Amino acid sequence: MRNPVSILSVVVFLLCNSMANSDVLEESSILQCLSNHSVTSPPISSVTYFPTNPSYTSILQSYIRNLRFTSDTTPKPLFIVVPSHVSHIQASIICCKIHGWEMRIRSGGHDYDGLSYVSAAPFMILDTFNLRFISVDMEDESAWVQSGATLGELFYRIAEKSKTHGFPAGVCPTVGVGGHFSGGGYGNMMRKHGLSTDNIVDAQLVDANGRILDRESMGEDLFWAIRGGGGASFGVILSWKIKLVSVPEIVTVFRIEKTLEQGATDIVHKWQYIADKIDENLFIRVVLLPVTKTHLPSIKAKFIALFLGNAEKLISLMNGTFPELGLSPMNCSEMSWIESVLFWSNYPKGTSLEVLLNRQPQPEKYLKKKSDYVQEPISKKDLEGIWKKMIELRRPALTLNPYGGKMSEISESETPFPHRVGNIYKIQYSVTWKEDGPEAADRSLDQIARIYDYMTPYVSKSPRSSYLNYRDVDIGINEIGNASYSEAKVWASKYFKGNFDRLVQVKSMVDPGNFFRYEQSIPSLTFWKSTMAE
Ligand SMILES: Cc1cc2nc3c(=O)[nH]c(=O)nc-3n(C[C@H](O)[C@H](O)[C@H](O)COP(=O)(O)OP(=O)(O)OC[C@H]3O[C@@H](n4cnc5c(N)ncnc54)[C@H](O)[C@@H]3O)c2cc1C
Ligand SMILES: *[C@@H]1O[C@H](CO)[C@@H](O)[C@H](O)[C@H]1NC(C)=O
Ligand SMILES: *[C@@H]1O[C@H](CO)[C@@H](O)[C@H](O)[C@H]1NC(C)=O
Ligand SMILES: *[C@@H]1O[C@H](CO)[C@@H](O)[C@H](O)[C@H]1NC(C)=O
Ligand SMILES: *[C@@H]1O[C@H](CO)[C@@H](O)[C@H](O)[C@H]1NC(C)=O
Repeated sequence: MRNPVSILSVVVFLLCNSMANSDVLEESSILQCLSNHSVTSPPISSVTYFPTNPSYTSILQSYIRNLRFTSDTTPKPLFIVVPSHVSHIQASIICCKIHGWEMRIRSGGHDYDGLSYVSAAPFMILDTFNLRFISVDMEDESAWVQSGATLGELFYRIAEKSKTHGFPAGVCPTVGVGGHFSGGGYGNMMRKHGLSTDNIVDAQLVDANGRILDRESMGEDLFWAIRGGGGASFGVILSWKIKLVSVPEIVTVFRIEKTLEQGATDIVHKWQYIADKIDENLFIRVVLLPVTKTHLPSIKAKFIALFLGNAEKLISLMNGTFPELGLSPMNCSEMSWIESVLFWSNYPKGTSLEVLLNRQPQPEKYLKKKSDYVQEPISKKDLEGIWKKMIELRRPALTLNPYGGKMSEISESETPFPHRVGNIYKIQYSVTWKEDGPEAADRSLDQIARIYDYMTPYVSKSPRSSYLNYRDVDIGINEIGNASYSEAKVWASKYFKGNFDRLVQVKSMVDPGNFFRYEQSIPSLTFWKSTMAE
C-alpha cells in the first residue's frame, strides 16, 4: 500500500501546480496583449492587477462607496488596470474587444448601484484614480481637470488660485468628476449657474476605436451626449475643460431645524412656493427625517442654505419672502465660498481646507437611493400623509433640492439632462444601514420601495422622471447585455425624456459595435439590427 501522506501531497502538489499554471498562462497572455498595444514606459504590467496580486483587493475596494458591493458574492473583475498613460486605456479597449470582455470605467466610484465596478459578464475595471491632474488658468477663467480627480481636489485647486471663483458641482468632495460631470452634476449653485455639465467647454476622450478625441475632433453630437448622457456609453473620458464661475468674497450659510411641533408642515408647505422662485443666489435644501426614538414620533425638517451674498442681504430677502422660517442673524454664518464647501460637507468650523484633498470619505455604509421630480406643490394634508408613512416605515430620509433660476432658462434638449423648466424640486430618497447580511438589506430595500410607491400621486408622470447620477437599477436595466431600443427606452426615458432618441443616434454612430455597454448603457441600433438579422 502506498503512503497516504505522499499521495495527498502529490494531489495537493498537482492541484496547486495546475491552478498556478493556468493562472500564470492566462495572466501572461493578457499582459502580452496589453503590452503589445501600449508604450513600454511606463509599462502597463506595472499598473495591471490580477487577483493573484496582493494589492488587487485593496485597489478594488478603495473606490467602492456602497458596502452592498463588497461582499464575497459580488462578481469580481478579471483584472484591474490603473492607467498612468493614455496608451494603457487604448490597450485595455483593444484587448477587451479581442476577448469579448466588458470594461467597467471607474473614477470616484460613487455610482449608487455599483455599475462602475460590478458586472454579471466577464469584465475588467479601468480605474482612473491616477489620472487626476488639475490645471487652473486664471487668465482664461477655466480649468482642465482629469477624470479621476475628485470634486474636493477641484474646489481646492480653484480656491488656491482665487477667492472669487468657484465651480457649480456636487456637495460631496469625494465624488469623481468622471461620472459626476458626464451625468449632470448639481449642487448648491445650480439655481445661479446650472449644472456642472452646463459649464463644460471642451473634453478629451478615448473612443471605441482607441482614438483620442477632443471637442473639435469628436464633433458636437458626441460632445453633447457626454454632457449628461453618462460617459460610459460613449468612451473613456480623459479630461474636461470647465469654465469657472464668479463667487462673491463673502457667502452666507445657515442650517435650521424644525420638528412638526415647531410647525414643520406649514414651513415645508410654504417652502414649495418660494424655493424655486426666490433670488437665484439663494439655495435652500430641505432634509426630512423621521424621528422615531422619541416618545412622540415626529418628522424633523432641516433647512440648509447657501446664499451668494452677505448675511444682511439674506435676512432682508428671507424676511420678505419666507418669514415663516424665522431666520435671524444669529443663525447665519458668513464665510468664503471654499469654507462653505466644508460647511456643506458637515465639517466643523475651522477645519483645514486640506481635508478636501482626502479621497477617502467618512465611514462607509450600505445604501440605496432613488429620485423623483415634483412639479406641483404637495398640499398640507398630503404632506401629513407622507409624514405618517415615513414614521411608519421608520427610516427613509427625503432630501428636497429646489430648481428654478438658471435651471429654467436652459432648454430640455440643450444637454441630455432634461429636467429643466416646470420642476419645482427634486427628491432624493435614501436608506442607509450598517448591518451586514440579507435581512437588513431586504428590510431597507423594502422601506425605500414603499415610500417610492406611496409618492406616486405627487411626482412627475409619463414618464416618472429620475436623475441619472442617482443611479437606480429598479427603474429598469438592459437585461440581455445588448439592449434593444424598446427595452432601453423604459428606463432611459426617465433619465433623458425626449433626448433618448438623439443619444441612441450618437451611440449608433460612435460605438456601433456596442463595446461600451452596461446595465444602463444607451443601445446601438446598428448593433441590434445586425444581430437580429443573423
Ligand atoms: C456620498 C455621495 C454624494 C453625492 N452627492 C451628489 C451631489 O451633491 N450632486 C450630484 O449631482 N450627485 C451626487 N452624487 C451622485 C454622483 O454624482 C454620481 O454617483 C456620479 O456618477 C459619481 O461619479 P464617480 O466618478 O464618483 O462615480 P463612478 O462610480 O466612478 O462612475 C459613475 C458612472 O460614470 C461612469 N464613469 C466614471 N468615470 C468615467 C470616465 N472617466 N469615462 C466614462 N465614464 C465614466 C461609470 O462607468 C459609471 O457609469 C453623490 C453620490 C454619493 C455617493
Ligand atoms: C504580441 O506581439 C508579439 C510580437 O509582435 C506577437 O508574437 C504576439 O503574438 C503578440 N501577443 C498578443 C497576445 O497580442
Ligand atoms: C436661530 O436663532 C434664534 C435666535 O434668534 C435661536 O433661538 C435659534 O436657536 C437659532 N437656531 C439655530 C438652528 O441656530
Ligand atoms: C422684516 O419685515 C418687517 C415687515 O415687513 C419689518 O418691519 C422688519 O423691519 C423686517 N426685519 C428685517 C430684519 O428686515
Ligand atoms: C453583446 O455584444 C458584445 C459585442 O459584440 C458581445 O461580445 C457580447 O457577447 C454580447 N452580449 C450579449 C449578452 O449578447
